[in-house]
Amino acid sequence: MRIAILCSGGDCAGMNPAVKQFVDYCLAEEIEPYFIYDGLEGMIDGTIKRAEYSDVAGIMHLGGTMIRSSRSPRFYEYAYRKEAYENLQKHGIDRVVILGGDGSFRAMHEFHQEFGVRFVGIPATIDNDIYGTEYCLGVDTSLNIIRNATDAIRDNASSIKRASVIETMGRECGYLALVSAIVSGAEVCIIPEAECDFNALALKLKSQLKQGRTYIICVVAEGTKMTQKTVEWLEHEIGMETRATVLGYVQRGGNPTVFDRLMAAKFVEYAVDYLEDETKEGGSVVVYQGSQCKLVPIDYVLSESYQLDEKLLDMAKDMMR
Ligand code: F6P
Repeated sequence: MRIAILCSGGDCAGMNPAVKQFVDYCLAEEIEPYFIYDGLEGMIDGTIKRAEYSDVAGIMHLGGTMIRSSRSPRFYEYAYRKEAYENLQKHGIDRVVILGGDGSFRAMHEFHQEFGVRFVGIPATIDNDIYGTEYCLGVDTSLNIIRNATDAIRDNASSIKRASVIETMGRECGYLALVSAIVSGAEVCIIPEAECDFNALALKLKSQLKQGRTYIICVVAEGTKMTQKTVEWLEHEIGMETRATVLGYVQRGGNPTVFDRLMAAKFVEYAVDYLEDETKEGGSVVVYQGSQCKLVPIDYVLSESYQLDEKLLDMAKDMMR
């Protein structure tokens, strides 16, 4: 049996541990592991190779992905998907593990319906925005990077009496910003999923400043597009010198945390076990629910959009009003 692995979309920490676990686990199960380099682009271009133990030696602690990733506009076109299928056929591959977000899973689902290639999706995106799973690979590492950065920025802000606005990634999802604001003890949290009452926040912050507050930390999710407006609000409405830090791509790199390495191992074993099972059909996704991994049909994951946990939102409500 041959199974291939590829990474698709935004890279994240945890992909390398997953790739290593995939090769080690396949070889232990007497399955032939294959790499598809450069994501769906590589499937189209045929950059496919049989994987060996030696390929994955010493990658466990590295961020990113040694087999690289891509966003593939070409894969939307049938002609390129056909080429991709022919490339898989050349190598005798009829099942695939794909690490990525729901856009990548949707593409694989269509590919499966056209050509019958079985696949399992492993949620891997720092955005943590996939319906049906409480966790996506890379999120813990990203949150720890944001925590480090926020701690350092607080050192600056508190030493020099400033406000600091910290912009996190996440696309339309405020998960990274929300959790980071909670664990960093921020004063303000601005995310796409919740309204901020700036008048109420202004009253509160001004009164705290009168009572001796010396700095303000605001965490803003990129999806709100509110970073610059928040800087202006702090300077003009609150009257505090303000700096902004857009954390950017540091959130996608870095060596994977213990949790991401462990989750990579669990996700991969579930994925390979499922693909190994000849009685199973179609596309599935390994999800994490209630501290357990399980397989769910791809339709389930694609059926709705991700919603933030109400309890987390509630914990941050004082940072929004
Ligand atoms: O989906 C992951 C992510 O890092 C988002 O948080 C961010 O908005 C986007 O990717 C950046 O995309 P690109 O890698 O195409 O610049």
